[in-house]
Amino acid sequence: MGESIESVMKEGRSFAPSASFSASSRVGSPAAYEALCRRAEQDPDGFWAEIARELAWQTPFSTVRAGDFPHARWFVGGKLNATVSCLDRHLSTARRNRAAIVWQGEPLEERRTLTYFELHREVCRAANALRSLGIQSGDRVGIYLPMVPELAIAVLACARIGAIHSVVFAGFSAEALRDRMVDAGARCLITADSGWRRGKLLPLRAAGLTAAEGAPSVADVIMLRRNTRDPIDLSVASGKHFRAHDWHALTGEQSAVCEPTFVDAEHPLFILYTSGTTGKPKGVVHSTGGYLTGAAYTTKLVFDLRDEDTYFCTADVGWVTGHSYVIYGPLACGATSVMYEGAPDTPSQDRLWRIIDELGVTIFYTAPTAIRAFMRWGEEWPKKHSLASLRLLGTVGEPINPEAWMWYRRVIGGERCPIVDTWWQTETGAIMIAPLPGAVATKPGSCTRPLPGIHPAVVRKDGTRCAPDEGGYLVIEKPWPSMLRTVWGDDARFVSTYFTQLPGKYFTGDGARQDADGYFWVMGRVDDVLNVAGHRLGTAEVESALVSHPIVAEAAVVGRPDDLKGQAVVAFVTLRGGRSPQEGDVEALKAHVTKEIGAIARPDDIRFSDALPKTRSGKIMRRLLKEIAATGVATGDVTTLEDMNVLNKLATAPDEE
Ligand code: WTA
Repeated sequence: MGESIESVMKEGRSFAPSASFSASSRVGSPAAYEALCRRAEQDPDGFWAEIARELAWQTPFSTVRAGDFPHARWFVGGKLNATVSCLDRHLSTARRNRAAIVWQGEPLEERRTLTYFELHREVCRAANALRSLGIQSGDRVGIYLPMVPELAIAVLACARIGAIHSVVFAGFSAEALRDRMVDAGARCLITADSGWRRGKLLPLRAAGLTAAEGAPSVADVIMLRRNTRDPIDLSVASGKHFRAHDWHALTGEQSAVCEPTFVDAEHPLFILYTSGTTGKPKGVVHSTGGYLTGAAYTTKLVFDLRDEDTYFCTADVGWVTGHSYVIYGPLACGATSVMYEGAPDTPSQDRLWRIIDELGVTIFYTAPTAIRAFMRWGEEWPKKHSLASLRLLGTVGEPINPEAWMWYRRVIGGERCPIVDTWWQTETGAIMIAPLPGAVATKPGSCTRPLPGIHPAVVRKDGTRCAPDEGGYLVIEKPWPSMLRTVWGDDARFVSTYFTQLPGKYFTGDGARQDADGYFWVMGRVDDVLNVAGHRLGTAEVESALVSHPIVAEAAVVGRPDDLKGQAVVAFVTLRGGRSPQEGDVEALKAHVTKEIGAIARPDDIRFSDALPKTRSGKIMRRLLKEIAATGVATGDVTTLEDMNVLNKLATAPDEE
């Protein structure tokens, strides 16, 4: 870790919630927000106990929190089952017949709605199916499925019987799936024949079976037929050490009544491997009681859900956002959660806007990378649709560039919808820093203020607090219920990754600053910080300056070794609306950065490209760009890359200078 990080960004715009939005939200004024924060500060146990009691507990907990970092335990003595909170308890209310999941397939004509009553039945059948195979509480079940309702059903079926699910994104390769199943010691794999992506069928069956062959702990493979009508030849599919089963045949014969397995609050609910922009994936372990408390609390507060809402989070369930904000959070709140199988540009670049209009979506949650793609595609696509049903927008996954934020607000939000920029991580389980939309004024590019009960801070290398606008390390100073409990099979790695650099605090790996109003501005991963002539600059600020130029859609900046300055700034840029680079663009962009943030951040090289290398969850892989900038090629681990072709193109792209 280096010294502190300099902030060079100037962003002065601010948007207060409208009076009408505030009037109808749970936390409707700055004073109400501050009061909640004070309450949490003065009586953290009482505060969290009250929130946790909103879940359905079989046995009430006796202790709210036991222990401290790195191994705090929450809601000790309590027993619960996550599916009772997400499903059973709604069945005795008006939510019984409400849509729990509205699923839209990529093919236009495929749509399914599952009410709470129906989802409960399906989950019970699938849970009985798992039990019939001898799967028990604590066993690990790998799930490798496209975004179809059975993905949610499989996840919840595991939770029903206390089995620990480990969802692997269906875009990952057989090797990536195998490594994750070997690491988790998975007993069972649930997969499918295929899933739709951009008008093509993703062949999952072969990858699933190959991965199962390489994972000796797997005894059963359950195969969903998403697109094949004929029954699967089970003898062909079965392997050396596992039996294959047909999902439909296996679940179809089960009873729709399934007694839940009640587990201790600390019982692991799931393992989720972080895709990571660097290094070997870590199996992040989440608990049942603490995780669900965090997911439910944040869904309710940040999205301010009401019974009339139709809520659409575009994340795949292969990522933590899909776990917390497609499945567990919304269902615990009794909401209607929209699940979309396919790509945002299939059959055309207005697909999401079409879904919003057709389903009357009121709350829309997506990632900055997606918003930048919408900008690149052009305003004409959203303009084809009304989008009048929307009342709240959200983003997650990366710092959002202020210009992308402004575009989102104007073009998608019609200048009436508040935007919740939500900072959190796979490890935090739930949103940590975000505006409560009726209470906290927003600033483009800032995730604003912590949720009540959450204690982030920006500190220097020696652990002391940074002054306002001084860049430093983003840490969390007190345990919170939904924090990861360990790294699966490697507690030493858990402790060394998160708790050694800044003793006594959880280190997020992000750089940030807090402004004079206490707002947090995330500046990017600390590992990506640029070091130019002794100035340490966060990537987000320089990239945001580039994106604020009207021709730029997306930018990634990295440092290249430079004899004179330590590092030279190299910017990789994609242009809006299919524009090809023209003479003068390079100079114009350099001048623009100088004007926006100063000569220190002026890029030495600018390279234009059709696309940037990203992880499969959409994060820019600056590590690879850094290698390309320094040596012309990328040689490191590229297995988490979304599109290999991008690298070849970048490596051969002529330097525009
Ligand atoms: C980044 C996703 C700025 C950050 C839920 C974090 C963000 C990492 C934001 C976690 C945001 C996520 N503003 N940066 N609103 N949200 N990040 O584990 O670097 O996929 O540490 O979890 O994404 O990514 P992960």
